[in-house]
Amino acid sequence: MTDIDVLLSESRRFPPPADFTADAQVRDRTLHAAAAADDVAYWADQASTLLWQRPWDTALEWTPPHARWFTGGQLNVSENCLDRHLAAGRGNKAAIVWEGEPGDRRTLTYWELAREVRTFANVLLGLGVRKGDRVGIYLPLIPEAAIAMLACARIGAIHSVVFGGFSPESLRDRMNDAAASVVITADGGYRRGQVVPLKRNTDKALAECPSVRHVVVVQRRSTGPIGDAHVEMVEGRDHWYHELMRKASDVCAPAAMDAEDVLFILYTSGTTGKPKGIVHTTGGYLVGAASSTRMVFDLREDDVFWCTADVGWITGHTYLVYGPLANGATCVMYEGAPDWPERDRFWDLCARHGVTILYTAPTAIRAFMKWGDEHPRRHDLSRLRLLGSVGEPINPEAWMWYHEVIGGGRCPIVDTWWQTETGSIVLSPLPGVTTTKPGSATEPLPGYRAALLDAAAGEIPVGGGLLALTRPWPSMLRTIWGDDARYVQTYFSKWPDRPDLYFPGDGAKRDEDGYFWVLGRVDDVLNVAGHRIGTMEVESALVEHPAVAEAAVVGKAHEVKGQAICAFVTLRDGHTPTSALRDDLRSFVATKIGALARPDDLLFSADLPKTRSGKIMRRLLRDIAEGRALGDTTTLADPSVVAALKDQYADQEG
Ligand code: WTA
Repeated sequence: MTDIDVLLSESRRFPPPADFTADAQVRDRTLHAAAAADDVAYWADQASTLLWQRPWDTALEWTPPHARWFTGGQLNVSENCLDRHLAAGRGNKAAIVWEGEPGDRRTLTYWELAREVRTFANVLLGLGVRKGDRVGIYLPLIPEAAIAMLACARIGAIHSVVFGGFSPESLRDRMNDAAASVVITADGGYRRGQVVPLKRNTDKALAECPSVRHVVVVQRRSTGPIGDAHVEMVEGRDHWYHELMRKASDVCAPAAMDAEDVLFILYTSGTTGKPKGIVHTTGGYLVGAASSTRMVFDLREDDVFWCTADVGWITGHTYLVYGPLANGATCVMYEGAPDWPERDRFWDLCARHGVTILYTAPTAIRAFMKWGDEHPRRHDLSRLRLLGSVGEPINPEAWMWYHEVIGGGRCPIVDTWWQTETGSIVLSPLPGVTTTKPGSATEPLPGYRAALLDAAAGEIPVGGGLLALTRPWPSMLRTIWGDDARYVQTYFSKWPDRPDLYFPGDGAKRDEDGYFWVLGRVDDVLNVAGHRIGTMEVESALVEHPAVAEAAVVGKAHEVKGQAICAFVTLRDGHTPTSALRDDLRSFVATKIGALARPDDLLFSADLPKTRSGKIMRRLLRDIAEGRALGDTTTLADPSVVAALKDQYADQEG
């Protein structure tokens, strides 16, 4: 059976447990109905739960494809995430319960977090950072990552967080695209017992970043330098975080920001070699983040919320930092790998910190399944009351395992579909309201409208098609940094007669109950272990290698990672295909982009299957990579190329 057949035959239903609904934040469909009647009024209601320094004049100005939300309004994100809770008596409540991979621990109360943020905001001001300036953040998952983000928000600087697993070149390109003036990094971070040399990577990147004037370096261990990641400080450019913090004042008023001022840029992969700087603004983003966290995760005052994502991804932005903190929640933050030092690390963390809500990715769930039930069974997970999934389709088998083994059969599961571009969750059950089906992200949250469309924008009530969002929403991206034409082209040009329809790039299925089943990307973007990687990015990296003439990259189904990267490479004259060269090329991609982009398979080929107009037929390469019967080859310039490739692939696999 194919994945789609499995989904089509999925008939299990899980209504919300009655005792869950009884205490839930949202208990019935009143909000769905209100939002369906008037979505703008609904969003204005949600916005009014935040603290505004000045109320907005207009909730929505929509000139497709550009939306402006809450114009005229002013607010500060850090004030909403911090000061508001101090005023409400949450000063001594834990905001961040952090654990490092080696086992070091820190807890920051709202009072302490607010003080650190104000102090670091002054540090940034002292380095000349002003409203609208871009600040790069390239840190391990330590509290300083949240502190740095919130400090930027406090003074109106725009942060651009770069995942610590990305290479120096990736960091360089992101810093240059946004012309960042300051980078915040650390001497290192821990991943599977190894030290990630972030400062050394930063030094390499900055050799070609003329806009960066200052680097702030966090000492990852308060007791001294980390591992052997020897750090060289460049006089005048580099500063130790702890030294600047010692000298800075902790008094810093939150800047008055317009709702439409940019809060952050976050780069994500697209269908070209160049990642897109997704732009999010202040008011709308926070409305989406705060309201979805409260409703989808049913937040209560005494919850301990653990979103396992890194701040380098949108999930970390919205559900590790901004959403939970805007709600005054206690968040767990863990630096390292799930199997370090043992395969029960997550369950050990859940039990020791009393986690009540866990939000993680299908790729992790499938790895846990494979590792065996004995690891979670060794720990008391009885405080868990709600489970979440994000980043890729969750297969029903993994959903059931999550439900039974982790959730003890009692915790609702929220399978949340959204994207870097949407800013916050779009499709998801509400745990006290929606009957779930394993593998389905169910329905749009209140305030959203989604549809399945065919190529002519005709709605498909039941069946398969392209997912579309048919109304603007507050936390939607506003543009692509420096490239509004690409914004229009990528997201609002799929249906030329309907420039108001947002195309997320995903295909989906809709069943008789109207439930959405997101199937995955329909463009040249892969989803490897929940991380978006453009096939063109990997191809561009490969062709930079002196031995490579041409490269084509496709995804292939993978049991744990969802998709794995397969590269087909033709070599320049004078280069011989050897296994040493294969390893070299795989590592080359890892060095260029980051380890997450290292191809799983790499096949040398004398030629690539192309149409007569010279276009590489990826569809055929996918068939080859997944061992399927070859589809139609009649349009190929030279049909013998694929037959040869297929045999070669089979040999290599065997
Ligand atoms: C995929 C991550 C199915 C989808 C928040 C989307 C999902 C891309 C789900 C965005 C889900 C995310 N079910 N697919 N619950 N959640 N996706 O920008 O293909 O890293 O377009 O944002 O992940 O990835 P991104």
